Amino acid sequence: MKKKRYGFGTEAVHGGEEKGFLYNPASTPIYQTSTFFFSDMQEAAEVNQGRKEGFVYTRIGNPTIKAFEDKMAILEGGEAAQAFSSGMAAISAVLLEILRPGDEIISSSHIYGGARSFFDNILRKLDCPVRYFSPLEDLKKKIPALITKKTRLIFFETPSNPELSIIDLKLISGIARKHKIVSVIDNTFATPYLQRPLVSGIDCVIHSATKYIGGHGDAIGGVVAGSGDFIARLRKNMLLNLGACASPFNAWLFLRGLKTLHVRMEHHCRSAEKIADFLKRHPKVKGVLFPGLKDHPGHAVAKRQMSAFGGMVSFGLPGRSSCRRFIDNLHICRLGVSLGDTETIVLNSALMFHSEISDAACRRLGIEPTLIRISTGLEDPEDIIEDMKTALKAV
Ligand SMILES: Cc1ncc(COP(=O)(O)O)c(C=O)c1O
Repeated sequence: MKKKRYGFGTEAVHGGEEKGFLYNPASTPIYQTSTFFFSDMQEAAEVNQGRKEGFVYTRIGNPTIKAFEDKMAILEGGEAAQAFSSGMAAISAVLLEILRPGDEIISSSHIYGGARSFFDNILRKLDCPVRYFSPLEDLKKKIPALITKKTRLIFFETPSNPELSIIDLKLISGIARKHKIVSVIDNTFATPYLQRPLVSGIDCVIHSATKYIGGHGDAIGGVVAGSGDFIARLRKNMLLNLGACASPFNAWLFLRGLKTLHVRMEHHCRSAEKIADFLKRHPKVKGVLFPGLKDHPGHAVAKRQMSAFGGMVSFGLPGRSSCRRFIDNLHICRLGVSLGDTETIVLNSALMFHSEISDAACRRLGIEPTLIRISTGLEDPEDIIEDMKTALKAV
C-alpha cells in the first residue's frame, strides 16, 4: 500500500488536487459534462484505447471525480479509489464484482440495514448465502468456524451502525489472509482520519461519502479504496455495466468536504465524548454505547486502532414512549436518518420504521427498539447537552 507522505491535514488539503487546470484555480473545477470531445479520429482512438491520457464519458471517468478519487486513495493509504453514486452503489458493486454464484459470505450482524437488505434479498437470489457473526462473540473462534471451502468474502463495520460495536481490524485481516478470503470494511463511521483499515491489511474500504466525507448533508455518494488492480476491475466491470457513477458536482462537494475532514472530526469526536459522559451520568438513561467509554466492550481495541472514538453515540431509554417524548422535546437536535452532518441528528429506528411491530419482533430483526442514535454535529456541545437535559425532563 502507498505510504502516507505528509500529515493527514496536509494530504486532505493538497492530495489529489491536480495542478495545471486552465487559469490555475484554487478549487478544482467542476467538469459538469457528460462527454468529452476529440480533435480527430486518431485522438479519439488513442484516448478510448488508453494509449493517451484523457476522458471519454463521465460514467467511466471525469477530472473532478478523479480528483476526489485520488484524494480519497491517498487518505485511505490505498493505491486507487472509485467513486459511486451512493454508499449502497459502492457496497453492491464491490460485492457483485467479487462474488460468483455459489460463493459464501461471512458478515458481521452489526451492519447498516441497507447492506443487510442487499445481502438477504439480492445476494440470496444469486445463490450467495450470508453467515452472520455478532461482534460481541469471541471472533477468534467464531469466524474460523463459519468459514467453508466456498467462503469468498468477509464484510464488517467498525464502529458499527447503530450499536457502535468494535471489531479488531488486524484480527480480521489475519483470518482473511490465512483462509484466502477477501476482507471488506464499511469505514463510514470512522473515516480515514480516525482509522485506516488498508494499512492494517484489510483488502477493500467502502464509504458512504454522503456522511462525514461530504459532511454537510447536501450530497449522496459512495467511494471504494483498495488495490489498483481491484479498483480497475471495479471500474471496468461494475461502473461500465451497472452505471452507478458519481456526479461531478457531488464529487466536487466531497473534495471540498475532505479538505476539512480532520478539523470537523476533531470537533465531532470531542462533542461525542462530552455527550456520552453527560448521558452516562443521567439517571433516566439506560446504557450508553460509545467506544470511548472505558466499560464499552470494544474500548481497548478502539483505543488501539482508532485515533479517537468517533462522533456517534447511542443510548437507551426505558421504553418506546420515553424515546418518543425525548425526541419530540428536542429543540436544537434534529430528527432524521443521516449522520456525519453539521447538525446533531437523532434517530430511533423502531419508532420511525417499525412502529407496527412489537419490541420482541424488532429484536428478532436485530433492532433494539429503545435505542436512540445520535450523530453529534458541529454545534457547541454545551448547547446540545442542555437541549438533551430539557428533553429528558419530559421523559
Ligand atoms: C454505515 C453506512 N454504510 C452505508 C450506507 C449507505 O450509504 P448511502 O445512503 O450513501 O447509499 C449508510 C447509510 O446510512 C451507512 O450508515
